[in-house]
Amino acid sequence: MPTQTNPNWWKEMSVYQIWPRSFADGDNDGIGDLHGVLEKLDYIKSLGVDAIWFSPLYPSPNADYGYDCADYKNIHPEYGDLGLFKQVLDGAHERGIKVILDLVINHTSDHHEWFIKSKEGPQSEYHDYYYWRKGKKPGGKKPPNNWLSVFEGGAWEYDKNLDEYYLHVFAKGQPDLNMANPKVREEVKSILRFWLDMGVDGFREDVITYIAKTEGLPNGFPLMPVGRGMEHWTSLPPVKDYLREFKEVLDEYGAFTVGEAPMMTPALAKEYITDEAGNLLNLMFHFKHMEADCILIDWVGLPFSLRKLKKAFSTWQREMFGVGWNALYIENHDHPRIIDRYGSLKYRVQSGKMLAAMYILQSGTPFVYQGQEIGMTNIKLDCLDQFKDVITFNNYNLFRKIGFSEQRFVKLANRRSRENARTPIQWSAEKNGGFCEAEPWFPVNPNYPEINVAAAEADPDSLLHWYRALLNFRKGNPMVIYGSYEEHYESSRSLYVYSREYEGKKMLVICTFGEKPVQFNAPRGFDLTQGKQVFGNYAAPEIQTNSFVTKPWECRVYLWG
Ligand code: GLC
Repeated sequence: MPTQTNPNWWKEMSVYQIWPRSFADGDNDGIGDLHGVLEKLDYIKSLGVDAIWFSPLYPSPNADYGYDCADYKNIHPEYGDLGLFKQVLDGAHERGIKVILDLVINHTSDHHEWFIKSKEGPQSEYHDYYYWRKGKKPGGKKPPNNWLSVFEGGAWEYDKNLDEYYLHVFAKGQPDLNMANPKVREEVKSILRFWLDMGVDGFREDVITYIAKTEGLPNGFPLMPVGRGMEHWTSLPPVKDYLREFKEVLDEYGAFTVGEAPMMTPALAKEYITDEAGNLLNLMFHFKHMEADCILIDWVGLPFSLRKLKKAFSTWQREMFGVGWNALYIENHDHPRIIDRYGSLKYRVQSGKMLAAMYILQSGTPFVYQGQEIGMTNIKLDCLDQFKDVITFNNYNLFRKIGFSEQRFVKLANRRSRENARTPIQWSAEKNGGFCEAEPWFPVNPNYPEINVAAAEADPDSLLHWYRALLNFRKGNPMVIYGSYEEHYESSRSLYVYSREYEGKKMLVICTFGEKPVQFNAPRGFDLTQGKQVFGNYAAPEIQTNSFVTKPWECRVYLWG
């Protein structure tokens, strides 16, 4: 159990991510909330995790479901209030579970008081909280530069009253904050203190590498169809200056940070980690291993490449070892479900178990996303109207331009939209998967009678019990936490094999990707007949020789010493 007195608590912990709207509905209005979380704290504890990361709980008009924050020091009325949050916080702490909040400071909501006041014009002290600029032509005829947003067309929105544009790198309802303004940074520090004083243990910092923009806001590389200009808002040097300032506050409380870091490379990560001020972020969510079946974004799909996946994981494992620390994840609220992507629906449980062992047993802090632990899968929606996410609609506009019909686009969205990860959690085989009696805010996956928490609890071979076993095996196990990492058979297109070693103890993790039987021969220095098999997603066989033929999506973990 990590404690504040153990400076490595954040290395030793594992984290459960809650996307509150779809986690548990305690007041039966079809929307997940903190009443629901309170009821499920024992369940979360039972998983063996040490912390919860909450996706935004702040009041929000939901242009991006909480990632458009309208008040940083409050709780969305749909989820509860500050008093209820405090109960959840205390309830988590009583169970030895830390609480990490999402800190979304690249942008606010356009409903935030600061933004509303900023629209009064240059005389308002809030005007310079945002990037308000004159267009290149009057009357809203030409924006200040050629940037395109990541979520919703052009990156500039025109305000007629002011005859000025504001910058939004994401949706129109998410105006970018001008972090170069010291007053904005003071606001951020005040937000940090507000939650840290209440007892929160740390923050997941949303798109934190985007918080500085090139001075003068010059045009971006013209050929980019979305996110044009991103070279002027990604990982610029002032990001580190701002993080140093925030760190002064965070350090007073011993708080933890994990930064979401698009386009992050190990070399850049090292700059953040080895800064003269210390770790500017404890961990970073990079995206490399989420690109094994796509080009940069999920929507531009490619066939799954195991070699790409292994290269991504192994590069970060090697580069961070002894210097930094990895954030390990395979799901979150921004990607479709992993079994649909890297595993197999036909072998849902076996492939789900293999994928879980594959990443949790690596070196780093593992994160498990709600529903991942029971092997939830993508949902099939019938028409565009059923979708809710701003990215889906933006992509619809883009894909229509290259000839996609609505029907064809819906098929793509069913595979590639992040909404697949946002369906309500399937708690039982009851109506709406036991999420609520009322109409749920988003469709429940119709596979809930088969895939649900109650069924998984009752089945000793379920994925849920496997996750618990893995997380508990890791807990307090220095080899899994601190051991070295070595990959074997790097060129294999069907096996991912790696070993960990620590003070004379060794572990071999063998992961099969696919149904085809593969002859596995143990690498030199590993004698399976002498090892102890600690995990296997098929009944543990007698092992007579130093090799075996794999079963579909088979995973085995052996231990020596
Ligand atoms: C991050 C969040 C994502 C959100 C975006 C804009 O990528 O994880 O959900 O839409 O930032 O805030």
